[in-house]
Amino acid sequence: MLGGCFLAMMMFTFFIINPGYTRARLANDYKVKTRVFLSPELVLERGSVANKIFYDIDFPRGHVGLKDFRAEVVDEAGNSVPLQEIYLHHWIVVRYYHREGVDVSQHDSDTGFRQPSVILMTNAGVCHDGLMQYFGLGSETRKTATQIPHPYGIEIGDPEEVPDGYREKWFLNVHAIDTRGVVERLGCTECQCDLYNVSVDEYGRPLNSDYKGGLYCCYDGTRCRVKEGLDGARRRIYMKYTVKWIDWDDSLTPLNIYILDVTDTWRNSDESTGLATKHNCHIEYNIDRCATDLAEKDCIDSRQISLSLPTGGDVIYGVAHQHTGGIGSTLYGEDGRIICSSTPTYGEGTEAGNEAGYIVGMSTCYPQPGSVRISDRETLTLVSNYSSTRRHIGVMGLFYILVADPSHDSSPSLHHAVKMHRETLGSHSSWAKGLIGVVIALSVVVAGYRGCLSPRQSGFERVAI
Ligand SMILES: *[C@@H]1O[C@H](CO)[C@@H](O)[C@H](O)[C@H]1NC(C)=O
Ligand SMILES: *[C@@H]1O[C@H](CO)[C@@H](O)[C@H](O)[C@H]1NC(C)=O
Repeated sequence: MLGGCFLAMMMFTFFIINPGYTRARLANDYKVKTRVFLSPELVLERGSVANKIFYDIDFPRGHVGLKDFRAEVVDEAGNSVPLQEIYLHHWIVVRYYHREGVDVSQHDSDTGFRQPSVILMTNAGVCHDGLMQYFGLGSETRKTATQIPHPYGIEIGDPEEVPDGYREKWFLNVHAIDTRGVVERLGCTECQCDLYNVSVDEYGRPLNSDYKGGLYCCYDGTRCRVKEGLDGARRRIYMKYTVKWIDWDDSLTPLNIYILDVTDTWRNSDESTGLATKHNCHIEYNIDRCATDLAEKDCIDSRQISLSLPTGGDVIYGVAHQHTGGIGSTLYGEDGRIICSSTPTYGEGTEAGNEAGYIVGMSTCYPQPGSVRISDRETLTLVSNYSSTRRHIGVMGLFYILVADPSHDSSPSLHHAVKMHRETLGSHSSWAKGLIGVVIALSVVVAGYRGCLSPRQSGFERVAI
């Protein structure tokens, strides 16, 4: 409350001092920079799976606003590789702070330092256990719009927020399956355990016998069954990613990234207040085949959940993530209004970006800023629909939304006030910063420092889109 009061006073002061300030800026005033990067190589053979994490990837540095992140799989010659050859199960890009001079793989207990070697800077919510990424898609990557309109950006690299002794870095996880020559393409891309002849997980733990498929059966180094006499044919692939960004300045509004999951079995850990929601995002689920007497049009598996975000705000962008069989996903507000509806495009040919039978793109939402607003603690409903004319294993129903940070009022005065507030209290202690974050907003800052307070949420072991 004190913080709110202080803010209000600062706002008032700045309105008085700064009455003629204008924020108007034309779209072409923004100097958008673009760079294309290449990941380290992944080596695959017919049927094989690569699920790799590359730490400290090339990425824009400094205090910037990210505007776009595009990606695709290319071969050694730089040519696009189509999905029926190399299926891109998922890729994700995760932000973290790395303590200088310490190896990321070193366990904190071994280093003898009180500070963790890595602080994961997860998105703003709500599935922090499994969905920490800032960016990430799957087969739909090539035809899914991801650019962020002006005057918005995903703010990164603010030197005031990076703890002393740490550097901001990014890791990339790419999960790709070489489906050339496999006995059943869809089964391999859905990671059916029997096709991979897998009965233990990556760490040698036996899988439950009713676990039919999903990420636990297609981990790095596993192999999907290929046709008799067909194996080998090694090839090297890379993820090519194109990042757009602009130098950060106060005329930009930061966005919070939220990723919702239709399999989230969240509960309130404090029933009386409804605060402190514990999310449990299972990420994958299965679709049973519909009853045989149903008409094809009635064979729809519709799954839904209701949940709320820590804070509301204006929705600037939305998109769903579904796997083959998906027919659309919609996020509704408490009053039933549509916040965003996103539907897949299936390919029809053989060339990269148009592969028949694969989802090659998802439609996106770019509401007129201010026209779609989520209120604080509003109950949202996420619906994910799949065709159930056949069984599907390990599908997903995620929804990404980018929401304007509500603590960043469009009036420059407030923003100045917030910044001043931050500077006034800006000691170098992470704890203090964490607390200021709570006062200012339950935003990325807080999400990140949650990582700081419980740094070993074993995020590096369980990474998935
Ligand atoms: C499947 O795995 C079992 C045990 O790991 C092994 O004995 C068997 O040969 C494998 N089958 C195939 C077709 O690879
Ligand atoms: C999902 O399926 C339900 C039930 O068939 C339908 O009412 C709803 O409109 C569908 N939504 C989407 C986004 O396809």
